[in-house]
Order: sequence, then C-alpha cells, then structure tokens
Amino acid sequence: MLKIGLIGCGFMGTMHANCYKNIAGVELAALADVRPERAGELAKGTHAACWGDGMELIKNADVDVVDICLPTYLHARYALAAMEKAKYVFIEKPVALTVAEGEALLQKQKETGCRVQIGQVIRFWDEYVELRKIVESGAYGKVVNANFRRLSPLPTWGWQNWLLDPALSGGAGQDLHIHDMDYVLSLFGEPQSYSTVKNVLGEKNSYVATVLRYEDFVVSVEGTWGLPTTYPFTATFRVVFEKATVEYAGGKLTVYDEAGARPVAIEKAQLEGGFEGGNISDLGGYYNELVYFTGRAKAGLPVEKATLADGVASLAFVRKEIGNE
Ligand SMILES: NC(=O)c1ccc[n+]([C@@H]2O[C@H](COP(=O)([O-])OP(=O)(O)OC[C@H]3O[C@@H](n4cnc5c(N)ncnc54)[C@H](O)[C@@H]3O)[C@@H](O)[C@H]2O)c1
Repeated sequence: MLKIGLIGCGFMGTMHANCYKNIAGVELAALADVRPERAGELAKGTHAACWGDGMELIKNADVDVVDICLPTYLHARYALAAMEKAKYVFIEKPVALTVAEGEALLQKQKETGCRVQIGQVIRFWDEYVELRKIVESGAYGKVVNANFRRLSPLPTWGWQNWLLDPALSGGAGQDLHIHDMDYVLSLFGEPQSYSTVKNVLGEKNSYVATVLRYEDFVVSVEGTWGLPTTYPFTATFRVVFEKATVEYAGGKLTVYDEAGARPVAIEKAQLEGGFEGGNISDLGGYYNELVYFTGRAKAGLPVEKATLADGVASLAFVRKEIGNE
C-alpha cells in the first residue's frame, strides 16, 4: 500500500481525499488541517492519523507521499520540508506564490532527488487530453486560431478568505487563468509575443485576457472570477483548424466541419458515490492526475507530466503576464 499524507483538508484536499479513496493500492495514512474537524471528516472510513499543523504530519507521520493542498502562500514552506521527508510530493497549483519560491523548490529537488508533481490538472482533463491528441495528430490540418476561457464566480470558500487577497493567492490571474496558460504553453510552447489586458475598474487581477502570437496562428485566453455568485463556473475552448473546428462547451466536445457536427465520446472516470460541493462536479481530471502520480510512486518511476519544472515555468510566465513579478 502506498501511504499518503495529505496536508490541507479544505476544498481541494477534500477532492484529493475522495480520489485517493478510490485508487487501488493507495491508503490515506495521515491527514493534517489546522481545523481539526476538517481532517476528522476526511478520516472517516479510513485508518488515517490526524494532525493539526502540516509540519506535525511531515515530522511524525509514516507516509511514502506528501500531498500539499494548502493555501498557495504556504506551498513553498511546507513543500521544502516535505521534500526532505518523502520521495514523492504533490503540490497543488500554482506551485508557489512567487518565482523565487519556485526556484527554491527546484534547488531542493536537485539536493534530494524528490519526485514532484504539480496540480496543473487541465493537462489531465479528458477533453483537453483529447485536444492535445488531435493537435499532435494533424488530423484536421494546422491550427489557425484558438480560444480558451475560464469564468468563475468569486471563490469565497477559502479558509480565512485567503483566495480573495492577491498578496496570498496572486488573484484570478495566478490562481485561475494559470490553468489555461499552463495548458496552452504545454501544447503550443512559448509564443513569439503576447499582449494582456486586465480590469481597469475593480480588482485589477480579477479579469485577464491575453492574446498570444505564434508564427502562423494566434491564441486568446480569458480568465475571470469577478462574476456574480449565480454565474455557473464555465471552462471552454474552441480551436479552429484548417479542416475543422473543435469546441469544448457545455461539458461536450464537438468537431464541426462542412459535413456536420460530430460529438466526440469520452469515457470518464467517476468516483463511487459521487461528490457534492464546489463548482466542478466532474472529477475526471483530479482523479486522472492522482492515478498517474500514485502510479509513478508505486512503480518508483520519475514524474514526467506536470513536473515541478513545468509548474515553475508556468508560474514565471503568468506572474510576468499579469504584472505580479
Ligand atoms: N486544481 C484546481 O482546480 C484547484 C482548485 C481550487 C484550489 N486549488 C489550489 O489548491 C490549494 C488549496 O486551495 P483550497 O481551495 O483547497 O483552499 P481552502 O482554503 O479550501 O483549503 C485550505 C486548507 O488548509 C488548511 N490549513 C491552513 N493552514 C494550514 C496549516 N499550516 N497546516 C494544515 N492545514 C492548514 C485550512 O484550514 C484549509 O482547510 C491552493 O493552492 C489552490 O490554488 C486548485
């Protein structure tokens, strides 16, 4: 059994715990949260030992893996300690608050050889995985233009409302929009140039729109969490190829061409019993990324997807893009 120590039992920690409980050969062995009732809730039905501060878990728990689902401004401090403790560490995205922190993590990785995966979950989201296959296959010719959007109501669930303080989360640009930017950079590489606009009124980082120029195509990426609480969380993309257009909207992936519109069927992993809460009901990507991560850990293999270096590169790009750096 691969023993997991999970630090931070809030929104994302709950998601991860539900995934681990459904992965074969994996055991939730330790949980930590400064709100003990949160760890206690997730421990139900497991033999997990519960701790308060994450450092107590890192110092005392018998685990093979540490998974850090703490608020972003705490990632680096706990990840540095976790990399001394465990051979495999998972850090939620964004990898850290600042690029300097990300570089300190890379340095620690050199010293310890720790294998680290970052929660850039879109790389594991079924429809985005399918899009990567389509782009790489060249089935519909070259990309002409593309658009990625991520639209959310204000995230008010955070412990002590840390998400709403840009000094702790980086704001919507660094917390939300980084999902699409990381994916776009991983799919198309660094652009030749780009330009960005942000809110003029209101919190400047709550709306970001960037146009990236590549040699023979353009990509626009829009992200906001400045929407009313009644607005449904929305993630979409539309990629125009020479011979067809591929769109992900309303939870469906469709290929359009002159012959008609064809749905692309995708078989999704579902958690037993489902999961209530949050704005994302589809657990496929979270489950997929943790199946990959725990699979690498069980086999003693390096992490080759959503690596620490990938996470730091995306963080560096986005912090520059939105003017945080
Ligand atoms: N991949 C995604 O789609 C996605 C979605 C949401 C959040 N996230 C990321 O996940 C991370 C956590 O976000 P969240 O929404 O779960 O936040 P949250 O506020 O819901 O949860 C954080 C938890 O950490 C606990 N905590 C705080 N300090 C602690 C400490 N020192 N030791 C132990 N526990 C401590 C809090 O009590 C809280 O339960 C963030 O980096 C966020 O950006 C990723």
